[in-house]
Amino acid sequence: MKPNYFLLVIIFWLASCKKDTITESPATQDLVGYEEGEELSAGIRTVNDQSNLAFSYQLSGLNPQEKLNFFVGNSFFNQNWVEAPSSTTARDGLGPMFNARSCASCHFRDGRGEPLANKGLLFRLSIPGVGTNGEPNADINYGGQLSDNAIQGVNKEGAFTIFYSEQSGAFSDGETYSLRTPLYTFTGLNYGAMNSGILFSPRVGQQMIGLGLVEALSDNSILANADENDINGDGVSGKANYVYDAVSKNQKLGKFGWKANVANLYHQTAGAFLGDLGITTWLFKNENCTSIQNTCQTAINGGTPEIDSTNLNFTVLYTRTLGVPIRRNYKDANVLMGKMIFKNLGCESCHKAKLITGTNAAINALNNVEIRPYSDFLLHDMGTALADNRPDYLASGAEWRTQPLWGLGLIQTVNGHSYLLHDGRARTIVEAIMWHDGEAANSKNAFKALSKKERDNVIAFLKSL
Ligand code: HEC
Ligand code: HEC
Repeated sequence: MKPNYFLLVIIFWLASCKKDTITESPATQDLVGYEEGEELSAGIRTVNDQSNLAFSYQLSGLNPQEKLNFFVGNSFFNQNWVEAPSSTTARDGLGPMFNARSCASCHFRDGRGEPLANKGLLFRLSIPGVGTNGEPNADINYGGQLSDNAIQGVNKEGAFTIFYSEQSGAFSDGETYSLRTPLYTFTGLNYGAMNSGILFSPRVGQQMIGLGLVEALSDNSILANADENDINGDGVSGKANYVYDAVSKNQKLGKFGWKANVANLYHQTAGAFLGDLGITTWLFKNENCTSIQNTCQTAINGGTPEIDSTNLNFTVLYTRTLGVPIRRNYKDANVLMGKMIFKNLGCESCHKAKLITGTNAAINALNNVEIRPYSDFLLHDMGTALADNRPDYLASGAEWRTQPLWGLGLIQTVNGHSYLLHDGRARTIVEAIMWHDGEAANSKNAFKALSKKERDNVIAFLKSL
């Protein structure tokens, strides 16, 4: 038989290409600064996937029952709830007031929301002062969150529009960038004019990865980084929020939400069922209607409560057990260089690389895991431009929780957009950095002064997370 020379030539050509790439970047040079295992953002629990479903896998090491429960929880997270009465009583009870029909509308593919109604943006509302448990003081007519949706026969609270104004700036080397400041207008308000002193906080839903590991951090491991009065004099404080936990009925260290305004995933999930979908639970029994919203109060409900504690538990377990994807390109020279610059810029004063989870989590796989979330989970004053001027428990209007950076480089792949920061105003990672101010001003200015190549390396590092 005649040998297929054409095929052979192709094979040799491919082999030589591969060899070329290897010789061009010698392994020794690649490995400078590489730390064994740093690609495993959630340590031994890391998920090995980088597809558009990278945020949707359960972490490894769950027991057989937990593995099954994850899938039941997943269905409650993704399903669309319907209005009561309906033939599927386990899945009805949407509203009367709501923002979206499913958790996944705002956490699409367990990822990041966009600054749009129904796709992840919501407005927390309050008036000055605090409520009985230290929480923001709900508005009498509009409550604690703007409901921009309602079931038939009930008027939604209103809607919103966003207008962005652009300001350009320049890096020290002359390259320009542009930042867009959002300006919000509430429209079609159905329950009277809003209190003139109303405070509001626009927020998008975060990616759902690794949250159980964050919950499993001991208070001490988080408080070890707190420096509320900046005693070490580095210009960065780090303050703990203490918030009301409806489950234990105590004040607890806040860990979740953009202002660390919720202590645990049980409260967060039950709170989202009520506040975002209008689904009652044993924890939050009353529908989300203010006293002047009569049709809301008299609307048919989907049971008392609308989701029972078994199904609520499945959903909570789901939020606890979503894994964290493995990093990409972590041995590339530019990424390793970027990692070093990130450190030198002082980004790690807040975006702490490494933490170890505690030993008390009910789910065994969450205990004793070395994680690399790139967050201290503490509050920092980020300056006036990012401020919402709405206090949330101990968080001031200018303070935000350091957003973990794990998964950052996959948001585009999973969600098809790269809107960042609490209100999605940043369109790129560079813009997100340039919005940093307040305690992060020194870091931001140091980034601004870098050369183009150095900035690109930092971004390459961040995209590898
Ligand atoms: C209307 C959009 C929307 C819907 C629907 C929604 N969320 Fe969220 N989610 C958000 C926003 C916005 C935040 C940030 C909240 C804050 O900072 O106060 C958030 C935060 C969270 C967090 C904390 C994440 C973190 O990193 O701290 C969890 C957990 C969560 N949501 C779970 C759920 C579950 C479970 C459901 C369904 C029962 C749900 N969400 C439905 C918008 C939404
Ligand atoms: C003083 C603490 C602090 C420092 C220093 C700091 N950050 Fe942040 N970072 C934050 C906080 C808080 C947020 C969330 C702010 C918000 O959403 O309004 C954040 C958000 C981000 C985000 C957007 C994350 C997301 O998912 O939306 C990126 C990217 C980021 N930081 C990168 C950096 C880089 C790079 C540096 C160093 C040049 C840096 N940060 C320094 C506290 C800090």
